[in-house]
Amino acid sequence: MQYNIPRGTYDILPEQSWRWQKLIQLFRDTAQDFGYQEMVTPIFEVVELFERSSGEGSDIVQKEMYRFQDRKGRWLALRPEGTAPVVRSYIENNLDALGRITKLYYLGPMFRYDRPQAGRYRQFYQYGVELLGSHHPYYDAEIIALMHTYLQRLGLQQVRLEINSVGCPECSKSYDQALISYFEPHKSELCPDCQIRLHKKPRRLLDCKVAACKAIAKAAPLMTAHLDSACREHFEQVQSYLNLLQISYTLNPRIVRGLDYYTHTAFEFLNDRLGAQNALGGGGRYNGLVSQLGGKDMPAVGLAGGFERLLLSLEQEGISLGKKPTPAGCLICLGKAAEQEGLKLLSQLQADGLSLVYDPEKDSLKAALKQASSLGCSFALILGENELTQRMIICKDLKTGLQEQVALSKVLTYLKSVT
Ligand code: HAM
Repeated sequence: MQYNIPRGTYDILPEQSWRWQKLIQLFRDTAQDFGYQEMVTPIFEVVELFERSSGEGSDIVQKEMYRFQDRKGRWLALRPEGTAPVVRSYIENNLDALGRITKLYYLGPMFRYDRPQAGRYRQFYQYGVELLGSHHPYYDAEIIALMHTYLQRLGLQQVRLEINSVGCPECSKSYDQALISYFEPHKSELCPDCQIRLHKKPRRLLDCKVAACKAIAKAAPLMTAHLDSACREHFEQVQSYLNLLQISYTLNPRIVRGLDYYTHTAFEFLNDRLGAQNALGGGGRYNGLVSQLGGKDMPAVGLAGGFERLLLSLEQEGISLGKKPTPAGCLICLGKAAEQEGLKLLSQLQADGLSLVYDPEKDSLKAALKQASSLGCSFALILGENELTQRMIICKDLKTGLQEQVALSKVLTYLKSVT
């Protein structure tokens, strides 16, 4: 009996895993360079956390959440996103007491039950940042700048940024009303989902992928006309900070994010060559979420992106992220006595931080050297009986073929001087 991987998931195989590690390391470095600290939360949380934060009517809650009951009958969900868990932990651990603003980053697997396609998986790996504690428009721009810097450090060119303001709850009300009045006469032409959403979340109609709904939505009123003066002012300031930071963007008044918690700024980084799943990352401000989840009235802004779509983009642009790491050297022992001494040396050198491999089944010099080269080692340490009696070892440079005899007690110093 052979088992297959669940639909919509994938294995990260050794040929890819080093690239994966590089993406992760570069994200960590970028977030840390901007002053963000890591937070790790569980991959499952109580279902209500996501129902309250993402919105009960959102696709994520309605269709995409992996829910299950544990042995005590508690309803839990595999996290579909990272913002709600971070906010839950921020409130639960009183992180606001540690400083005026809190800058956090996270990464890990997220789960959404959706139809799998290129760039869309049921288990995917997200990186994200959240900044809690300030209304200041500079921070909306900082979050965008962080992702922009990350993409630049990766070397990606085919990326554009779209921004919008979805306003505050007050000015959203008049916009929602305008949308309802616009769509109501077309109700019977809308898809069944949009007919339900029309009075609950009219903005979702702008994001529907069904052709008939899309065609009607084309002429729908725009949020821009409904922003009150404070929301407009905030949005203008975000744009001037982006200009100062020299980040190009286009305004797209039709950005509606799939989660309910957004207020003010909303944005997406897009790579059109990725096809239907073209969002490399997105986010925005969510000033009401902390209080909605039981915390203080605390403004916040953040973003998240998926590593899979970054890897696809890197492949498309022919960016390799360097070379697969290989062991620096290989130990070759010719005979039992040599192995006894050689393994002592191996463990000392490994403890000293040297990357060194040994294969006990390769005891012919020719086969062992061939294997060392195919592993990508740059040197071999060869210990035969002659060397052993002289307390020496041969250090062979596998690129030049040059070799030198070095005293066993001096190997580390020697290798440090040549590698
Ligand atoms: P989101 O737009 O739902 O936002 O997801 C962010 C990113 O995660 C997407 O742009 C995409 O790159 C990736 N992603 C989402 N779903 C999938 C999937 N099924 N397969 C592969 N990649 C996927 C959020 O999750 C918010 N928590 C972002 C945020 C943080 N807003 C404020 N703070």
